[in-house]
Amino acid sequence: MTTTPKGLFIKTYGCQMNVYDSERMSDVLKPLGYFEVDSPDKAQLIVLNTCHIREKATEKVFSELGQIRRLKDEAGGDVTIAVAGCVAQAEGEEIIRRQPAVDLVVGPQSYHRLPEMLAKGSRSIEDRLETDFAVTEKFGAFSNLRNVKGPSAFLSVQEGCDKFCTFCVVPYTRGAEYSRSASDILNEAEGLVGQGVCELVLVGQNVNAWHGASPALVEGGGREQAEWDLGRLIRRLGQFEGLKRLRYTTSHPRDMNDSLIMAHREVDSLAPFLHLPVQSGSDLILKAMNRGHSVSDYLHIVDKVRRARPDMSFASDFIVGFPGETDADFEGTLSLVREVGFSQSYAFKYSPRPGTPASDMNGEVEESVKEERLSRLLSEISNQSRVFNLNTVGSKLQVLFTRKGKGEGQALGYSPHMQPVHVDGAEALIGGLCEVKIVAATGTSLTGQLVDKTNPGRADFIEART
Ligand code: 5AD
Ligand code: SF4
Repeated sequence: MTTTPKGLFIKTYGCQMNVYDSERMSDVLKPLGYFEVDSPDKAQLIVLNTCHIREKATEKVFSELGQIRRLKDEAGGDVTIAVAGCVAQAEGEEIIRRQPAVDLVVGPQSYHRLPEMLAKGSRSIEDRLETDFAVTEKFGAFSNLRNVKGPSAFLSVQEGCDKFCTFCVVPYTRGAEYSRSASDILNEAEGLVGQGVCELVLVGQNVNAWHGASPALVEGGGREQAEWDLGRLIRRLGQFEGLKRLRYTTSHPRDMNDSLIMAHREVDSLAPFLHLPVQSGSDLILKAMNRGHSVSDYLHIVDKVRRARPDMSFASDFIVGFPGETDADFEGTLSLVREVGFSQSYAFKYSPRPGTPASDMNGEVEESVKEERLSRLLSEISNQSRVFNLNTVGSKLQVLFTRKGKGEGQALGYSPHMQPVHVDGAEALIGGLCEVKIVAATGTSLTGQLVDKTNPGRADFIEART
C-alpha cells in the first residue's frame, strides 16, 4: 500500500450523521496518504457523502457529479470519484449507470471498506460497489483516535431507525436501529476531551432511542442499573471534567422518557435546547404518517421538559402537503407552532420517496397549495425565532466560540440555545466558552460583548477554523 500524499475532497450533504461519517472517512483514509483539501480541483479522490431524504437532495448529487466529471476529464481521468451515504445505499449500481465517471459507490455502513476498495482499483462492478448493512463492523473498524478540528465534536451513538414514518427513506437507507456500546462511546468521548473538545454533540437518527448495557456491568462491577438509556449516558458524560456543553440530536417524541427529561434538570452541562421533530399538528396526519404519537402527547412532553428545565428552547421539523392534508390539518400545524413557541424550526414540502408507503397514498396536495402552506409556516417560524432572539437581548449567555467571524478580530460562537453569536475582539478566545452580554438580535443571530475575557482560546483551533 502506497502512502504518497494525495488530496482528498469530501462534500457532505444532509444531516449531522453525514457530517460525522465524513470526518470518519477522512480518518480511515489518512493512513493511505490522503489529506483533506479545500476544493475538488486539488483532489485525487473526491467523495460525495450524499442525502436521499427528499428528491431535491438526491438530484443535487447528480448535478454535482456532472460537474466533477468535467474536472476528472480535464485531469486526464487521474481522479477517483466515490459516492457515499444514503443515495449510494438506495441507488447502488444505478449511480454508475447514470454517471459512468463514478468509480466507487459505498453505503453509510460500509465506508470503513473504502481503503480496501481503493487499493484494489478494480473496474468490476462488484468490487466498486459496497452497500452491505455492517454497522457493528463499521464502528468496530474505527479507531478511537480522532483528529479533532475544533472545540465542538459530533459523536455518533446510534444509527438507523425502526419507526417507519410513512414518508421517510431512512429505515431503508440506514437500516434498523443500532446503538453503539456505552464503553465505546465513553472511550471516544474521553479521547475527544483529551484533545481539547469542550462540547460534545451526541448524534443518531433516533438518538434518544439509544440504549446499552452499563459499562460497569460489562466489567463485572458495582450495583449498577443493568441497562442504560440516553439519560443515564448523559449523566455519566456530565461528570467528565473539561466537557462544558453536551447536546444530542435528533430525537423522537416516543423515546422522550423521564430519565432523559430529568437529565435536563440534573446535568448542568446539558444544553437547554431540544430538537424534537413533530412533523404535523394534525392527529389525522400524524396517524397517516405512522408517527405513533398525537398532538397532545407532543404538547405534554414539551410541558414536562419545560417543568424540568424552565429555560428550555425547542426546535422542530415540519412537513407540509403530506397526502390528504386539508386546510384544517394545516391550521392545526400553525396552531401547534403558536402554542409551543419554537426558537427555530425547519419546514419542508412533502416529497414522495420511492418505496415508502406514503408515495402510494391518495390525496396528493397540489404544488401551489404546498408552496403557500410552506411560506405561511416559514413566516410563522421566522417570527418566533425573531421574538426568541430579541428576548435574549440584555441577558448574559455562555458562548462557545468555534470559528472566526467576518469582521476583523471577530469570533462566531453558539449560545446554549444554538443561536449564532458574533462578538468583536474575541478571536483569541476561539475554542473557549465565555460569558457574553447580548446587545442586539436579528431573526437569525445575536451580537454580543465579552463579559469575561479570562478563558484562553486555542491557537490551533483558530487555525483549523479559518
Ligand atoms: N418529504 C419531505 N420532508 C421529509 N423529511 C423526511 N422525509 C421527507 C419527505 N419525504 C423531513 C422530516 C424529517 C427531516 C429530516 O426531513 O421533517 O424530520
Ligand atoms: Fe425517518 Fe421517522 Fe425514523 Fe425520523 S423517526 S428517521 S422521520 S422514519
